[in-house]
Amino acid sequence: VLVDRGEHRHYMHKEIHEQPATLARAFSNLLNLDNSSLNGAVADVSFEGVNRIVLVACGTAYYAASVAKYWFESLANLPVELDIASEFRYRSAPLRADDLAIFVSQSGETADTLAALRHVKGKVKTSLAVINVPTSSIAREADHALEIMAGPEIGVASTKAFSGQLALLAALALKAGKDQGLVDADRERQLVTGMAGLPRLIAETIEIEPLVQEFATTMTTVRDALFLGRGALAPLALEAALKLKEISYIHAEGYAAGELKHGPIALLDKDVPVIVFAASGPLFEKTMSNVQEVAARGAPVLMVTDPQGAALAQEVGLKTLVVPSTAEVLAPFTHTIVAQLLAYHVAVLKGTDVDQPRNLAKSVTVE
Ligand code: G6P
Repeated sequence: VLVDRGEHRHYMHKEIHEQPATLARAFSNLLNLDNSSLNGAVADVSFEGVNRIVLVACGTAYYAASVAKYWFESLANLPVELDIASEFRYRSAPLRADDLAIFVSQSGETADTLAALRHVKGKVKTSLAVINVPTSSIAREADHALEIMAGPEIGVASTKAFSGQLALLAALALKAGKDQGLVDADRERQLVTGMAGLPRLIAETIEIEPLVQEFATTMTTVRDALFLGRGALAPLALEAALKLKEISYIHAEGYAAGELKHGPIALLDKDVPVIVFAASGPLFEKTMSNVQEVAARGAPVLMVTDPQGAALAQEVGLKTLVVPSTAEVLAPFTHTIVAQLLAYHVAVLKGTDVDQPRNLAKSVTVE
């Protein structure tokens, strides 16, 4: 594909900066802003008679699916069977005629994800593909293909496709909640309005880039880094770690904050930065108490949080990066921007090949 990098030094940088526009396009396709309701292909998906969601993907798409698990549970009260495609296809995971299976893939050509789709065909009620390339194999073979409309993504590390996957999956979870009778018109209006406001909030988040870049300078010589989050921000911590590993070659791990004391805390000292994603809300205090254990080990902490969370974090002397407030369910959208910018700037400072990291391919079409 011939795509211009424009004024940007790397495709990844361009793709990060495109997100207010790609999300605006995605949401204008997904939402009807005149009456604050769902619209288009997602509104036509039926969850009637569906008793379980199966979510399968690889890489960054798997982390988008992992965030969506929280959404299908909280908005639709549906159990979710979530797995990476290479495991799912060879497990004897029981499949049922009242399952709705969703395959998430930017390229639509990932070999394991395609094989997993073929594996469920005829065994589940419906298969949906959440894809960026409408002509792809996964799009063609699924019962229904839903396009994230992110436009061509060139950087190997996925950015705008990830946020596009989140947008589509959030709309799907909302539809599931409606069909299950759990989301009423008021709640729908509230969530649709929240989603419609995201492109602007993403643009505001991108404005903190100079601060992220400044923090990145403290990470160029570290060997290890730890990312933490809770709730829907727990999978985001894993995605942030993946992003950093992929392009900066720094060993990074993502953990659910509550799991910290079951292992990773043993690794912490002043040389291991800990980046924490935390939105203000019911889980915030729990995360803060995890963070205080980290700080007590001398590890440098960065809290990525909204203004309310930042006020609390600063009271106890923690370094913060402030992202705009959103409804709690939508926090992954703003936090992921910081994760992307951080990985990008650390990689640039280290001088790695940001768009074509060693040993990695944009699309893995062999097993
Ligand atoms: C490769 C890419 C990742 C991507 C993953 C899944 O590992 O480097 O960026 O997340 O494949 O690709 P897919 O096209 O199925 O989303």
